[in-house]
Amino acid sequence: MHKKEKNSNTHQSLISPLSLEEEDFEKKLRPQYLNEFIGQKQLTENLRIFIESAKLRKKPLDHVLLAGPPGLGKTTLAFIVANELGVNIKATSAPAIEKPGDMASMLTNLEPMDVLFIDEIHRLSPTIEELLYGAMEDGELDIILGQGVGAKSIKLQLAPFTLIGATTRTGLLTSALRDRFGIPLRLDYYEIEDLETISKRTANIIGCIIDTMAAQEIARRSRRTPRIVNRLVKRVLDFAIVMKKGTIDLGIAQYALDRLHIDSLGLDDMDRKILTTIIDKYDGGPVGIKTIAISIGEEVTTLEDFYEPYLVQIGMLKRTPRGRVAARLAYEHLQLPYNGTDESSLF
Ligand SMILES: Nc1ncnc2c1ncn2[C@@H]1O[C@H](COP(=O)(O)OP(=O)(O)O)[C@@H](O)[C@H]1O
Ligand SMILES: [Mg+2]
Repeated sequence: MHKKEKNSNTHQSLISPLSLEEEDFEKKLRPQYLNEFIGQKQLTENLRIFIESAKLRKKPLDHVLLAGPPGLGKTTLAFIVANELGVNIKATSAPAIEKPGDMASMLTNLEPMDVLFIDEIHRLSPTIEELLYGAMEDGELDIILGQGVGAKSIKLQLAPFTLIGATTRTGLLTSALRDRFGIPLRLDYYEIEDLETISKRTANIIGCIIDTMAAQEIARRSRRTPRIVNRLVKRVLDFAIVMKKGTIDLGIAQYALDRLHIDSLGLDDMDRKILTTIIDKYDGGPVGIKTIAISIGEEVTTLEDFYEPYLVQIGMLKRTPRGRVAARLAYEHLQLPYNGTDESSLF
């Protein structure tokens, strides 16, 4: 039931979920400490203070909730927090925790001050989530032994620990769970300059030379997302290698990105398909997300988690109470005559 959803579409998008091979690639590129983490300055500066204070007080850091679209650095930050605290981290993801017993054994196996990282925390089942409440609040685990009239409830005292939860969808989190995180942090899409720095850093780690103009071009077309910067650097490098270029320059970057159908705003074929479907088939909307998903053969969650946030962020797509609407900007970008509804009437 809770199995990780697969991307049903055969279209291999540059923003689709991670393959195993890519997880390895990402581990190599993952910053280990706060001073290597590029961008999100306000967030990291606050986090630094909270970590420092916890260390001075010799107490576990308060529970941290990391929210934001995929690829912005949530998992990276969770590992950084553990490194900065100098403690162990145990990492899991909500869909992998199937039974209350799985959760209980994870909690009881923590050493004092450890970090427990739960990815996709909005996908915990209600009974497992309830187990977490007592653990987060009082450091206690309520376990029911036996069944029926003979059932007994016992309380186990847990080692003091920090829970770090990550989610792409805060809206799907119960308020009971959300309220138990003392440090809620929201990651935003990155500034272009930060992405430029990330693309140079990535090139450096994988051992290639990239010039500033090329790094900027990749940054501009990366959906303001570090994970996509990494993917694009790797793909552009493939073109450079085959074309026997020693350096990634603007020409090769533009050539490669065009070949990959990534346009000036970082949109790929799937993004354009979503927008043209709304415009051509549904008169620009409003149209429900389920209808869009069926039309283009993609899963609703993939649309909501991966595609929609960026299209909304750059003003191409609007969410209204009656469904999704293609904004005027989308028509302009796709060079289609504007025949949409007067947007102001939709709110
Ligand atoms: N602030 C950052 N600075 C440098 N690289 C980053 C940063 N944030 C993310 N990355 C890179 O992007 C990749 C994806 O980040 P990740 O933490 O897995 O994102 P999320 O968990 O939010 O989906 C990481 O492996 C890392 O290489
Ligand atoms: Mg992650």
